[in-house]
Amino acid sequence: MSSQNRTNIPNSLNEHWMPFTDNKSFKKNPRLITEAKGVYLTNHEGKKMIDGSSGLFCNPLGHGRREITEAVTKQLDKLDYCQPFNQGFGGSFELATRIAKKTPGDLNKIFYTICGSTAVETAIKIAVAYHRAKGNGHRFKFVGRERGYHGMNIGATTVGGMINNVKAFASILMPGVQHMRHTHLPEHKFVKGQPETGMEMAEDLERLATNFGGENIAACIVEPIAGSTGTLVPPKGYLKRLREICDKHEILLIFDEVITGWGRTGSAFGAQEFGVTPDIMTMAKATTNGVIPMGVVAVKDGIYDAVTDASSAPEGAPELFHGYTYSGIPAAVAAALAVQDIFDKEDIFKRAKEMSPYFQDGLHSLKDLGVVTGIRGYGMMGGIDIKMKDKPGKAGFQTFKHCYNAGVNFKSTGDTLIIAPQFICEKKHIDEIIDKLSTGISNYAKS
Ligand SMILES: Cc1ncc(COP(=O)(O)O)c(C=O)c1O
Repeated sequence: MSSQNRTNIPNSLNEHWMPFTDNKSFKKNPRLITEAKGVYLTNHEGKKMIDGSSGLFCNPLGHGRREITEAVTKQLDKLDYCQPFNQGFGGSFELATRIAKKTPGDLNKIFYTICGSTAVETAIKIAVAYHRAKGNGHRFKFVGRERGYHGMNIGATTVGGMINNVKAFASILMPGVQHMRHTHLPEHKFVKGQPETGMEMAEDLERLATNFGGENIAACIVEPIAGSTGTLVPPKGYLKRLREICDKHEILLIFDEVITGWGRTGSAFGAQEFGVTPDIMTMAKATTNGVIPMGVVAVKDGIYDAVTDASSAPEGAPELFHGYTYSGIPAAVAAALAVQDIFDKEDIFKRAKEMSPYFQDGLHSLKDLGVVTGIRGYGMMGGIDIKMKDKPGKAGFQTFKHCYNAGVNFKSTGDTLIIAPQFICEKKHIDEIIDKLSTGISNYAKS
């Protein structure tokens, strides 16, 4: 079949090995999305659903934004690709300037990657390169956190803390990585916003520094809010304490803002929202409103200066031996610039901040549904825990399917439903998401 006359259902589902999917059961009972516009998706049966998780935190500006489509089309007509090593094109510099204006402090140097995983991998390498440049090549250990998610490359998998992702590849993970405990305490089950307790969990970093020598640790990486394990909001004071411990031992602090970046917390980045500036910050997803893959690493000026100044390579040789064929390609840059225009024109982070209390109230209104065992949230993201059945993940997936049938789409992770509405949502859309979640969760409970 030519790509021009594709129908809603392909002739064969056999050949595509789908990512993070139960391929066998999906292929028996597929869920195919055929159209997306604004806050709605349509599936192959013509059923309309509201998008309850902005794709995968990707499309806060809504689906099918004409401004983005037009910017990309125009760019492709003019310059569709140029190789990015030792040459460039103007758009990527313009975008870097615009991103640097929104990042906190002196996180002004912008490195482009392909996605969130490659942004994290790049951040890891930049941390190592920085310490080498400063004559501290012995700093190569990294600290991550339990229940963190940083993507699926080897480095990113290792610093992450989602057990199944790690277990499957334990034999090939990066050496020298330790994990702090996660911050989700039993008393946080139904806490709205930042928990009052748990700041002391940051002392795990001090403990690791004592056990392994702070002078051997290159960087500590955390998501300001752990997104993929269902919105684990940092206890008050926790991130500030991590910053202090990093400063004490000259450990770089990396914030993975692939989810929390670009307004999800109500500020441009979690860093500003929680008043803590990291040394390196990663982003992806909403950078292009999800339409073209792009990852970004924002780095403090001093780190860039150290790495570039230390280089004794001859002219033409890179200071940092790292990069991707698709680093800052024109189409992704055009999409990201159009997204920046919309952020500014529609004051979109403020809009997210203003809608957040309404959304959080809606989420917490679900707490009396019998199978709900926890609800957390911050900004425009939230997690709903469903009581575990005989095996982990089963209840979450079954609830997801009931909600899908009820007309709200999102992703479940283990037994947690991940909810993250688009920032263009009006109150009536939030009501619709909550109503349909209520129906879906209740139908699951009855099943
Ligand atoms: C915090 C965080 N970091 C990294 C990633 C990996 O991003 P990608 O799937 O684009 O590689 C994700 C993906 O969900 C994420 O949530």
